[in-house]
Amino acid sequence: MSFWHTLSQPIIGLSPMDGVTDAAFRFIMAQHGKPDVQCTEFIDVEEIRRGTASAWRQLRFVESERPILAQIYGADPDGFYQVAHVLCALGFDGVDINMGCPSKSVSARGCGAALIKNPLLARAIIRAVQAGVRDWASGQAIDTIGLRSSVVEQIQRLTSTAVPPSRQHRSALPVSIKTRLGYDSVVIEEWVSTLLEEQPEVIAVHGRTLAQMYRGQADWDAIRRAAKLVHETPRWCWGMVMW
Ligand SMILES: Cc1cc2nc3c(=O)[nH]c(=O)nc-3n(C[C@H](O)[C@H](O)[C@H](O)COP(=O)(O)O)c2cc1C
Repeated sequence: MSFWHTLSQPIIGLSPMDGVTDAAFRFIMAQHGKPDVQCTEFIDVEEIRRGTASAWRQLRFVESERPILAQIYGADPDGFYQVAHVLCALGFDGVDINMGCPSKSVSARGCGAALIKNPLLARAIIRAVQAGVRDWASGQAIDTIGLRSSVVEQIQRLTSTAVPPSRQHRSALPVSIKTRLGYDSVVIEEWVSTLLEEQPEVIAVHGRTLAQMYRGQADWDAIRRAAKLVHETPRWCWGMVMW
């Protein structure tokens, strides 16, 4: 059973915000706000695969931030599979897939909220992350999945210095999704039904479409309809977080 099941309802999480919820911000939140769950800014799967300085910086966290999710975005299921291993090795509590970012630079690559228009790829990505965390839990070695040797070495360094021994046991991390109400119109019931086919642990919904970006009021009635659908669906998706 994952940490999600131990949280009391309603779950009050710190929303992931690129350029805001970095490690320093989350550390302060952990001291003074203590959200039920925290999340990294969204991190590019390709940057993690390349082992860029920015990716390592975004992947930093400390024990007081737990439970902490790593949020990742991309468009290549193979990359998600590899990066799922990286996040498990670094000791995160869960993996969150970003299917909600509306920015041009992200959606033009088919990532973030653009995945709402490409359900086949979205589902392949969820399956890749689920397979990655499962294979990690079954003992797959990090140096056998095609990652660059420099990335493997960095993970081994971080695991031995920054991940406490109590966090080095292998278990399948919960996989969650953060998404929006639709691409250019509200299709949340249809979209959530598609996501539920892949049995994510949690779905978080930003109450706007990609086309709305951050403008106007969030549509809480649409979020309510999505939550109702999730709760009426036989139990593989555990719940929804509002953030
Ligand atoms: C500056 C900024 C950066 C954001 N970055 C992310 C992000 O990296 N990942 C993500 O899932 N959502 C991101 N969001 C969306 C928020 O997590 C949240 O869903 C949204 O702000 C909710 O809006 P509301 O409070 O008006 O309902 C970002 C929002 C803002 C304002």
